[in-house]
Amino acid sequence: MNKPCCAACADHSKEMKAFDAYLKERAKLIEKNLAKFTAKIPNAPKILTDAMDYSLQAGGKRVRPILALATAEAFGKKAADVMPAACALEMLHTYSLIHDDLPSMDNDDLRRGKPTNHKVFGEDLSLLAGDALLTYVFEVFAQNGKIKSVGAGNTLNALQHFAHLAGASGMVGGQTADVYAEGMGTQEATSARAEKIQKTSKKLAGKSLHYFLLPQSVKETTPENVLLYIHANKTGALIRASVETGALLAGVKGADLKHIQKYAECIGLVFQIVDDILDVTASAKQLGKSNSDAQNGKLTFVSLYGLEGSRKHAQLLIAKAQKALDSLKTARRKNLAPLYCMAEFFKTRTY
Ligand code: IPE
Ligand code: IPE
Ligand code: MG
Ligand code: MG
Ligand code: MG
Repeated sequence: MNKPCCAACADHSKEMKAFDAYLKERAKLIEKNLAKFTAKIPNAPKILTDAMDYSLQAGGKRVRPILALATAEAFGKKAADVMPAACALEMLHTYSLIHDDLPSMDNDDLRRGKPTNHKVFGEDLSLLAGDALLTYVFEVFAQNGKIKSVGAGNTLNALQHFAHLAGASGMVGGQTADVYAEGMGTQEATSARAEKIQKTSKKLAGKSLHYFLLPQSVKETTPENVLLYIHANKTGALIRASVETGALLAGVKGADLKHIQKYAECIGLVFQIVDDILDVTASAKQLGKSNSDAQNGKLTFVSLYGLEGSRKHAQLLIAKAQKALDSLKTARRKNLAPLYCMAEFFKTRTY
């Protein structure tokens, strides 16, 4: 028998095999509900809803909504109690991917095994499809307030946290630093983007590197600080939002909220560390997306710490995430297995 990996795991390989089936079944459930929501968009040109659906229905692991369901279930709610919010999380993530692939961002051609949204619908419509998904997110999330077992108060609280983590203070902030850090992952280790815009914009000429890359709260513009800010926000923030949404809709408070937030923070960072590793070690076919980090000179865990250093970071963070789960008091122990397994999946995933 294989050594158990965590408190919820009796036989590791058996547990992870069951988790694989769980992920597939949950992804199907999310997809069914996503289709219900997008079938209900009235008064829009068909090309717009087609562009939204194209990326939303293209597949994907659906780990963010699955995390929201699993967290809510660990604290005694049912999957159906948080389904609108879970679907909203996936819509927000999908908009972020559509915009991330645009020529002015990462300039990628392949996503979820298909040509990127702008390759099919053009850049103009890709921007608008992303905007429309982002806006629809709030309409869909708000519907969770009508579910009696959750209520309007918990929904409002969760929505406020989610919006905070999705915007300038979270994902969008991280994406901003990510694009301006382009070039920092090369031998030159300078910001090619910042230098370029400084040549054409009088307003931005002479601005410090800090201005492009970091919030005021981070003092020193070191590559380590920039990398951590990027990863914790461009990717970590939405993973945190997923877990927090599940917890806040379930009314979790106090020490347990802190523990579950710690879990989310650790696995969120691991998710992007492994994304950086796979960009180097896996093929575009295996990932279903272009691997363009080196070409774009991205500042990544691999460019700064190498493959082995990155793997070590991920391992340490997973141990911290498991410890945070071990500390939970009000969670239903028997329902925690998916959260333990998700941490393990984030570290070992190959796609
Ligand atoms: C890709 O996210 C973008 C990152 C934040 C690394 P996923 O790896 O979750 O992409 P899908 O949803 O499965 O396509
Ligand atoms: C993207 O990070 C994070 C988002 C907010 C979409 P990456 O640029 O590394 O994601 P991939 O590799 O294109 O999926
Ligand atoms: Mg990117
Ligand atoms: Mg990208
Ligand atoms: Mg990537």
